[in-house]
Amino acid sequence: MKGNFSIQNQNFSVDINLQSQSGFIINSSPRPYEVEFYNSKNPGNNLLDIISSSKSIPLLLVDKKIYKLYFNDIPAIKEIPTFFVDAVEESKEMDTVLEIVSFLEQNKATKTSMLYVVGGGIVQDLGAFVGAMYKRGLPWTFVPTTLLAQGDSCVGGKTALNHKNTKNLLALFSAPRKVVIDAGFLETLDKSDVFSGIGEIFRLCITGGKSFLDIFIKELPDFLKGDKRASNNLIAASLIVKKAIVEFDEFELDIRRSMNYGHSFGHALEALTKFKIPHGIAVTIGILIENEISYQRKILSLEERNLLLELGQKIIPSDSLNILSNTSLEGVLDLLRRDKKTEGTVLKLATLKSIGEMKFFDFILNEDGEKELSFAVLEVLKFFNIQK
Ligand SMILES: NC(=O)c1ccc[n+]([C@@H]2O[C@H](COP(=O)([O-])OP(=O)(O)OC[C@H]3O[C@@H](n4cnc5c(N)ncnc54)[C@H](O)[C@@H]3O)[C@@H](O)[C@H]2O)c1
Ligand SMILES: [Zn+2]
Repeated sequence: MKGNFSIQNQNFSVDINLQSQSGFIINSSPRPYEVEFYNSKNPGNNLLDIISSSKSIPLLLVDKKIYKLYFNDIPAIKEIPTFFVDAVEESKEMDTVLEIVSFLEQNKATKTSMLYVVGGGIVQDLGAFVGAMYKRGLPWTFVPTTLLAQGDSCVGGKTALNHKNTKNLLALFSAPRKVVIDAGFLETLDKSDVFSGIGEIFRLCITGGKSFLDIFIKELPDFLKGDKRASNNLIAASLIVKKAIVEFDEFELDIRRSMNYGHSFGHALEALTKFKIPHGIAVTIGILIENEISYQRKILSLEERNLLLELGQKIIPSDSLNILSNTSLEGVLDLLRRDKKTEGTVLKLATLKSIGEMKFFDFILNEDGEKELSFAVLEVLKFFNIQK
């Protein structure tokens, strides 16, 4: 089966074969890397097998919680020099990177070492940053353990740190040598992190067009019941779309900006709600608000607007919607003005013309823009029968 989609007039046609998804190669600079899929009963032992079969000298950078859940009773893993990360936003700072650099130095890391980075996006961002910085490049393998990291961030080589209260201010590109996706890790994920991950997968499936959105619609009910086959298919579908886009525009010179769909308002929402709404859930809400603006401007059809609202309803927990309805939008323009995609008062909004057809358009951050945005939020809440 083929998936066809377009971004700002650039057409993509990709093969979709979810069943044969034991792995694929991402063409990247300076070298390609492999993404491998596993579905282990014991993800700790599986990782140990992978480490043991490599000639590189291993080092471990791991989410504390993951270590406790999956590695604690594996003696051979305990012998590997390990740096533990508390996976909270406050850890995603340069200070932690420098501590990791000292750890690497103490353990004599060289180009023949392999840093295994195990955790969600926070550990990924730290590991990728160190991977780029330490002696101008330390080989690292990413083992994503959240749905968000498995279905989205593990591919594409972006990394960012927070600095002086600004999220992701320090940012660069750093590709891993390999990505090891093991669905076995997802068993222990909190509900809110499951919904956060599915938000990014929703975004990539809409971007990928009708065939990908059909997969999303077909697999969602089983996924919501906790079915692993469904979640593997959703992850594979999402990564096939992301692979096509990042291979075409790895360094975001142009169409990769479309990945920002749902993020402009999503990021503003995260900030306005003091990060009480997890990232991927804020992105889902952002998608629906951005769609509403397209619909009001007669860019998106009523039918597709409604279909996406109905799907969104299934993956936005009611507590996040309640937080949204109780949040004042005052200050939203200021936040949007500080968005990476804003030039002066013009926000370059990645928006949906139709499912699988993305365009960039200019959203002017003035009083009219603010009214248009408030109206869009009210319409989305109205659809969900929530008063503001
Ligand atoms: N580099 C990128 O391309 C990129 C893309 C998107 C987001 N991010 C960043 O990623 C971060 C968010 O990452 P995230 O949502 O993947 O997760 P996270 O690293 O923030 O972890 C979320 C929580 O889940 C826990 N956890 C992780 N895996 C678990 C598992 N298997 N079982 C139980 N608990 C588990 C963590 O300990 C933590 O409490 C943000 O800082 C964001 O800016 C980076
Ligand atoms: Zn995101």
